[in-house]
Amino acid sequence: MRISVIGCGYLGAVHAACMAKLGHDVVGIDVDARKIDELQAGRAPFFEPALPELLEEVLATGRLKFTSSMADAKGAEVHFLCVGTPQRKGEYAADMQYVDSAFMSLLDSLEPGNVVVGKSTVPVGTAARLADILAARRPDAVLAWNPEFLREGFAVKDTLSPDRFVYGVPHGEGGSRATSALDEVYSTPLSLGTRRLVADYGTAELVKAAANSFLATKISFINAMAEVCEVTGADVTVLADAIGMDERIGRTFLNAGIGFGGGCLPKDIRAFMARAGELGADQALTFLREVDDINVRRRIRVVELTRRLVGGSLLGKRITVLGAAFKPNSDDVRDSPALNIAAQLQLQGAEVTVTDPQAITGAQARFPELAYERDTSAAMSSADALLLLTEWEEYKALTPHHAASLVRTKNILDGRNVLDRDMWRAGGWNYKGIGRP
Ligand code: UGA
Repeated sequence: MRISVIGCGYLGAVHAACMAKLGHDVVGIDVDARKIDELQAGRAPFFEPALPELLEEVLATGRLKFTSSMADAKGAEVHFLCVGTPQRKGEYAADMQYVDSAFMSLLDSLEPGNVVVGKSTVPVGTAARLADILAARRPDAVLAWNPEFLREGFAVKDTLSPDRFVYGVPHGEGGSRATSALDEVYSTPLSLGTRRLVADYGTAELVKAAANSFLATKISFINAMAEVCEVTGADVTVLADAIGMDERIGRTFLNAGIGFGGGCLPKDIRAFMARAGELGADQALTFLREVDDINVRRRIRVVELTRRLVGGSLLGKRITVLGAAFKPNSDDVRDSPALNIAAQLQLQGAEVTVTDPQAITGAQARFPELAYERDTSAAMSSADALLLLTEWEEYKALTPHHAASLVRTKNILDGRNVLDRDMWRAGGWNYKGIGRP
């Protein structure tokens, strides 16, 4: 099929490349000319495993091109909207300006029979609102909402073989047409067994908000258990293993630590609360405020644990933060708990050095006042405490012996509970995990 993908950020760039991989003719469109130049040259503008190889492969077939001109969407049969919906400044609600402007500028390029497919995470009611505009301006086109569930770090795999597809479509002939078009777009993963659910617009939009809210709740639940473990001397990692063996609960997303961050979970639960409030259902989601509070509390807690680890005062203490990205295998530092903790420590008088295999450039742009060091060993040199805050493989593989040869004092805080506690203690380290004795 001929496909346009509007918005070439984390979601759109991966979606465009994956659609070309599935055999479609794809044009990726973005207002950011620099990003387009990078992508057209086969370079991913952000770190995402497997994306550079995929870009190289599909660009060579001639089935994928990138442009900053919306007019180039003309000729495509299916148009995916993949622009961002960040949190509005000073508010909980989502900022819809990018979705709205991408949608409005696409209208001029639409042709009879085209299908417009929203993938962005939006407040419930958005698809119905945009469908009304479409009906007035382009009654021969149809809108579908097809939320995206990809995880950064696994974006290519999650796009090519997701757990499920959810199509939000209108009733009647338009809905059947949109469903057939999406079935054709995704025919390869569908034939390989990916499940698909067809729903109304509101349900499809809510599936995404509900899924991210559930994941955030699961993480805050285990972090709340970590708080209780900390005052009772219990071990949250064993607790998570044990409750996770109940298949109704499951072990995934039960890793206690410094909490969730990134460009999705934090802002999505806030936008969901804001939207529920507008709709008069705010009571239904007040628990998400607690989920958010537990999450933010983790960051404050890690600062306190660090203060204790270095003897009661942060003033003048050299702290090395291992990891700046919000999670490993990503260079994304949006709402990164690791960076937030690093900045708080610095504000309270510590001398903080941050290292990360991929995220230093992004981190520097957000927190220029912090010191950065690319080389892990150099970053650890003369430290009074190491803080492992993003669980990159290379930090998990650190040995107490090697680290001891670099630091000033053998203090380590394992913010993700990924190190072998006994091994570090046996190496003479003062080891502190999260929610563990
Ligand atoms: C999340 C969802 O997992 C995706 O399904 C969704 O498509 C995406 O948001 C989105 O809305 O676009 P992502 O933001 O890439 O994906 O990251 P996750 O893997 O969900 O991790 C989120 C945060 O939770 C990270 O900071 C991670 O370190 C933290 N986390 C995760 C924990 O603290 N504990 C866990 O057990 C799991």
